[in-house]
Amino acid sequence: KGLNTLAKQAGLKYFGSATDSPGFRERAGYEAVYPQYDQIMWKSGEFHMTTPTNGMKWVFTEPERGVFNFTEGEIVASLAKQNGFMLRCHALVWHSQLPDWVTATNWTAAELRQIIVNHITHVVGHWKGQCYAWDVVNEALNEDGTYRDSIFYQVLGEEYIKLAFETASKIDPHAKLYYNDYNLEYPGPKVTGAQNIVKMLKTAGIRIDGVGLQSHLVAESHPTLDQHIDAIRSFSSLGVEVALTELDVRLTLPANATNLAEQNDAYKNIVGACVQVRGCIGVTIWDFYDPFSWVPATFPGQGAPLLWFENFTTHPAYHGVAEAL
Ligand code: XIL
Repeated sequence: KGLNTLAKQAGLKYFGSATDSPGFRERAGYEAVYPQYDQIMWKSGEFHMTTPTNGMKWVFTEPERGVFNFTEGEIVASLAKQNGFMLRCHALVWHSQLPDWVTATNWTAAELRQIIVNHITHVVGHWKGQCYAWDVVNEALNEDGTYRDSIFYQVLGEEYIKLAFETASKIDPHAKLYYNDYNLEYPGPKVTGAQNIVKMLKTAGIRIDGVGLQSHLVAESHPTLDQHIDAIRSFSSLGVEVALTELDVRLTLPANATNLAEQNDAYKNIVGACVQVRGCIGVTIWDFYDPFSWVPATFPGQGAPLLWFENFTTHPAYHGVAEAL
């Protein structure tokens, strides 16, 4: 029936897959499979939501100070529109994939404030009305729940988070504004840190609508269903929605019956938890086709984290997801 149809029947708003513009897909030399890839991505009914994995990031959208370029982000955004998909927009303020000009100068607080406001004003303004949600601040936390020592934090402290949400809210009043991070899928100090960000913004009267659980999981050591339920509830109890925004479950290569079964459990647990907690509104996997995953390049020796193998057959976990929905 397709994962999106099942997700809707289970009460979610969508099931989606991130994708990259054709020129940027992780593995080169795969042009021959693009027709088959695109058919599953856009035409199969499996997905009804997408996120550009790269094109809306700072390094693409403002490569020089005050010089904006929406070409890359526009490729996926316009495909989403043509195919009637929802769009999650990603990501406005993040320490990674920044152009050198942002990090190479010792900005004063006033300068960096102006840079953040100008960036958000132009980027959110460009896609105004098209984004179901924006990941406004991405990965601001360390594992112990303290703030990551980014250029933004060094110069402005937690004020940069307030400034980012305030600005995004003003420019696109209808986009849901999310804080997005990894390792928020099970209780612990990082979840507490993210709860504190939600509380800080709400106390300051600044709009935050959601928390994105990136959900980059590991097959061989995955959390339980109950841990996921607890983590999701700890956010929805603060009055924000939750989404799984970048789900993948990597395993130590080669894939075999054992690690694929563990991967199946991992997917079933987290998608099942999202279905069981009202307030968890949707699931996006971080691409669907293993060769286009970011995992092998980032975690050497690991891979096969998605739901379609290289030969376009589905992982056992596809059925785990379908069962959970
Ligand atoms: C990854 C992309 O998939 C890669 O293509 C890129 O080289 C690096 O970034 N957390 C995030 C995503 O919020 O933006 C990252 O995406 C994966 C981790």
